[in-house]
Amino acid sequence: MVNGFAISSSLGPGLVAFLPETSHHTLIPIAIWRPISYPIRIDPACILATANPPSGPPPQSCHLDPSPRTLLTDAMPTSPPPPAPDRKWWKSAVVYQIYPISFLDSNGDGLGDLRGILAKLDYLRDLGVDVLWLSPIYKSPLADMGYDISDYCDIDPRYGTLEDWDELCRGVHARGMKLMMDLVVNHTSDEHEWFLASKSSKSNPKRDWYIWRPPKFDAAGQRQPPNNWRSVFQGSAWEYDESTEEYYLHLYVAKQPDLNWDNPAVREAVWGLMRFWIERGCDGFRMDVINLISKADGLPDAPISDPEQEYQLASTLFANGPRAHEYIKEMHEKVLYKHDLITVGETPFTHDASQLAAYVLPANNELNMVFQFELMDLDAPLGVEHRPLEHREWSLKEFRAVVGRWQGFKREEGFWNATFIENHDHARAVSRFGNDSDEWRAVSAKMLAVLEVSLGGTQYVYQGQELGLRNFPRSWGVEEYKDVASQNYWNRVLEKRREEMRSRGEGEQDIDMSDVLDGFQRKARDHARVPMQWDATANAGFTDGTPWMRVNDDYETWNAAAQVDDENSVLGFWKRALRVRKTHEVLIYGDFADISSDHEQVFAYTRTLGNTTALVLLNFKETEVSFVLPSERGWSAFKLILQNYDGGLEDGRGIADRVLLRGFEGRIYVQS
Ligand code: NOJ
Repeated sequence: MVNGFAISSSLGPGLVAFLPETSHHTLIPIAIWRPISYPIRIDPACILATANPPSGPPPQSCHLDPSPRTLLTDAMPTSPPPPAPDRKWWKSAVVYQIYPISFLDSNGDGLGDLRGILAKLDYLRDLGVDVLWLSPIYKSPLADMGYDISDYCDIDPRYGTLEDWDELCRGVHARGMKLMMDLVVNHTSDEHEWFLASKSSKSNPKRDWYIWRPPKFDAAGQRQPPNNWRSVFQGSAWEYDESTEEYYLHLYVAKQPDLNWDNPAVREAVWGLMRFWIERGCDGFRMDVINLISKADGLPDAPISDPEQEYQLASTLFANGPRAHEYIKEMHEKVLYKHDLITVGETPFTHDASQLAAYVLPANNELNMVFQFELMDLDAPLGVEHRPLEHREWSLKEFRAVVGRWQGFKREEGFWNATFIENHDHARAVSRFGNDSDEWRAVSAKMLAVLEVSLGGTQYVYQGQELGLRNFPRSWGVEEYKDVASQNYWNRVLEKRREEMRSRGEGEQDIDMSDVLDGFQRKARDHARVPMQWDATANAGFTDGTPWMRVNDDYETWNAAAQVDDENSVLGFWKRALRVRKTHEVLIYGDFADISSDHEQVFAYTRTLGNTTALVLLNFKETEVSFVLPSERGWSAFKLILQNYDGGLEDGRGIADRVLLRGFEGRIYVQS
């Protein structure tokens, strides 16, 4: 029996746990040499794993198992531990999200595929990427573009084969990068064999793998869903199955039935599929809507927040439910703890930082970080109902408040951010937070890059963000919006307006939907999903066939080929910016302080790590502006290390107390 451990990876430095002989691995007094203010739970599985490191051949794959946790006797500290936050490879990593269907088509069928990704690995390595995150490439009917999986252990033939995936994995690893998969396990496809079995009869052993409930009947004897929850993609969150006369729950579209995580067999099946990919070589997981896996006990009705709607917003009842943390801890105990993976949970419907902390704090043994959406939701209307397809003007003050809150959040306890401003569920950042007109597009896209690389957290870049890709134009009709979320929203509004006209006796005539299209042009997910713009040839070099979505009109002038050798392009700037981030640890790990003092168009902040301070100045408007730096400290020793205006750096130039920033100018200075 071992009797003590230095816990270095799961608790962070500063803690030593002593395990009494009699404890049966549960009761652990802790010696602490740095003050902490949070409860500590030691994972018995970790301790056992340390005492009995895994034996047998390494996984038949490219994945390297991490070094085992260190025994106390080997690791008694001789000097004080390094200051928080701990260094981890995934903290300083740059993650690039690929939306495979729109990345590059290698076989002319109009859909991107794995061999297309393989062909671009050097491009990604040259950009400075460390980890590729693939949006789902598993077998899927594509009812929600692959977030509806019908076989977790196979590749959809549209994207290739398992052998293609292996080759991609080898190619990624050979270039020193890692590969992260999308884990979509709140729900499956209704074509998954688990669901087909579950649906086949009430007595099928898999019946309880999904959430089935009998109907309710209203006063008129009409059959009604078991509760009033609205699906995220419109309509009731319940679908009736005629043959077994029960409803199943689907928080997204009806083709995405929710798994019943309360059933231990479901959880075991999920651990199994995670192991399948880890053993094949996958280096981590982005976990789709992972905070929805536990729903409120008894599935009660949601409060009526919108009396005009039949079904109600129910996220308080289906997000961060009572057993969510228990299940994620179990995932950690059963799968994650023995691998040095990158894990990021997607946690929508939650702006309350304290609710999200528990998923991330190292003491809890859950995930490395989460995607929270407070910044992404900034330009949606305020109010209880989440209306992501509508636009609201946002202010820089709000923007700064959100960024500042998360940058400082529970740092002393080890909370770690995921830094992102684009993904496949949001319109392009330059169109939302910059100015995507021909005049300002490049410079404002670069300014947003300065913002991104100078914030603490793991850095995420979405495909095409590095080129400054923008939303497609307002002149495109609704038929170009292929996303089920856009289509369902459109149909609901159209139907509502039709009904209103009918009730006014106005009969069938054209219905004005221009306001809805205005919203779509600014906000729809579709903008991030059009084909990647590789070059000026037909279809932007994305495919030789007919692309599954129309290519944005500007591809002849705005594409990777046009930017790749141009240091002043958005792509050239991103490469430089990522190098600057990697060579200045302060930008990754430093403490954040907002020094903007309520300025209307400048976001100014410092990052400090030990003796090094970085100063970041960002002008969020077209007009030139003068910004006065706080006088409490001297700024003359600060040197400019990154700026987004052409002409290069003014070498060695110090900084005066008043700085003139040009339209959308962004700068980073460092003093050490
Ligand atoms: C979040 C994914 O990012 C999104 O694309 C998808 O529609 C929903 N989860 C449902 O899986």
